[in-house]
Amino acid sequence: MTKIERLGVVGGGQMGGGIAEVGARAGIDVIVCEVNAEAARAGRSRLWKSLNRGVEKGKLTEAERDEAQSRLHFTTTVADLEDRDMVIEAIAEDEGLKLGLFAELDKVVSDPEAILASNTSSIPIAKLAGATKRPQRVIGVHFFNPVPVLNLVELVPSLLTAEDTVERATAFAGEQLGKETIRAKDRSGFIVNALLVPYLLSAIRMLEGGFATAEDIDKGMVLGCAHPMGPLRLSDLVGLDTLKAIADSMYAEYAEPTYAAPPLLQRMLDAGLKGKKTGKGFYTYE
Ligand code: CAA
Repeated sequence: MTKIERLGVVGGGQMGGGIAEVGARAGIDVIVCEVNAEAARAGRSRLWKSLNRGVEKGKLTEAERDEAQSRLHFTTTVADLEDRDMVIEAIAEDEGLKLGLFAELDKVVSDPEAILASNTSSIPIAKLAGATKRPQRVIGVHFFNPVPVLNLVELVPSLLTAEDTVERATAFAGEQLGKETIRAKDRSGFIVNALLVPYLLSAIRMLEGGFATAEDIDKGMVLGCAHPMGPLRLSDLVGLDTLKAIADSMYAEYAEPTYAAPPLLQRMLDAGLKGKKTGKGFYTYE
């Protein structure tokens, strides 16, 4: 199985940045592609901060951090991904944007064996594959936030993904990045979000219905079920815009009330409250 030596990541936000970080830490040359210079600068500074945090926490040495930094390159031009063995798309959870990007990647990435992957958590991989002329090389490779900390990757082949693509992507996530992998069918939400999202939406409904305070809902799940964080704080971490987009995709797929976003979630987005990334969601962040 040929190793991935040159990785491209499109989108340098919390997911894309995290994926780029674990790739560079695993010795892979990484190009992060962002939409403009300002976003690239912000992505780079978040990434450097996370690497420094890893050093503070004793997870990597200063020399390893410096080496990882030297393997990370930033661009605003998709065409710079031409020589990549694998490109992972980690842009906003917007089907139209993703379809356009996959069509562009298909034209730009020259190696016909290269894998075009998506970190989507809810958009069908088959649709993304359909935007390319190489659906056998398209696969879902879904990471969890924060990527350097959480040890799981969901692998999601579509009906058209070749088995050698699945094997290579599994070896990349498992052997190269050192993550545990699970394999899911190409159904919106895959395994983890299909279980997680209804739970997060239920917590928002509970708050909206005035059953309990945000603090008590979260405390209930942290102390009562030993979760590392409660559902409202976790929603803030995921990003309320991302959570809403995932819920909408899942609702479109299954038409079940459990996936319907509660009005409070939409009202918070209308008010510009997207969670931790904007400094305010169910909680306020510095
Ligand atoms: N690099 C490497 N390791 C790091 C690190 C970094 N940059 N930053 C932190 N760590 C390590 C720490 O060393 C620590 O490891 P040990 O347990 O071995 O000591 C561990 O990560 C926890 O770090 P902290 O002590 O700093 O933080 P914490 O204890 O407050 O935990 C948290 C923070 C990791 C976010 C934790 O609360 C958590 O796991 N929350 C749940 C997150 C979750 O459920 N994410 C999934 C979201 S869903 C998703 O992502 C999918 C989707 O599509 C929506």
